[in-house]
Amino acid sequence: MEIRPLSAMDISGVLAVERVCFSDPWDFAMLAEMMLSPVFRALVAVEQREVLGFVLGYQVADELQVADLGVKPRCQRQGLGRALMEQYLKTNDFGGRVQSVFLEVRVSNAPAQGLYRSMGFYEIGQRSRYYSDGEDALVLRLDAPETK
Ligand SMILES: CC(C)(COP(=O)(O)OP(=O)(O)OC[C@H]1O[C@@H](n2cnc3c(N)ncnc32)[C@H](O)[C@@H]1OP(=O)(O)O)[C@@H](O)C(=O)NCCC(=O)NCCS
Repeated sequence: MEIRPLSAMDISGVLAVERVCFSDPWDFAMLAEMMLSPVFRALVAVEQREVLGFVLGYQVADELQVADLGVKPRCQRQGLGRALMEQYLKTNDFGGRVQSVFLEVRVSNAPAQGLYRSMGFYEIGQRSRYYSDGEDALVLRLDAPETK
């Protein structure tokens, strides 16, 4: 298994992970549009060409916004989500250090909140009815992540 930057050949694999992980998965057009952004950054965990997990988002100057993180159910709880996040915080395409990381997470998503809080993320607010099914989001922040 290797963790490496997302490339065009991984798109269908990422969308397959999206579909098994999320009730409101992104489709091809949404992901392709995101990938066109010059500040888009993403990593995939791949084994024998199969995408097992991914993390993606945007970096603007020293701020990183994590837009999505997913690991195939059969690979969950084996450290892959943490490895993806840790690698993501280390990779820096823009020079300088990431100083702040932001993300939204469903209020009901205990596994993801457990991962983020164990990495040092803390709650800075909530977004009411943020998701298409009406669920609220917590807004989490991480300051000056340890990247060694
Ligand atoms: C959230 C997610 C990416 C975590 O990936 P993972 O590979 O299972 O996570 P890891 O094995 O690296 O676990 C890291 C930590 O997360 C927390 N965690 C993960 N799964 C958990 C669970 N089912 N219950 C409680 N805590 C959990 C724990 O703190 C865990 O650390 P520990 O194993 O030392 O206790 C994965 O559960 C997933 O893809 N979920 C569906 C998509 C999703 O919700 N994405 C997040 C969107 S914001």
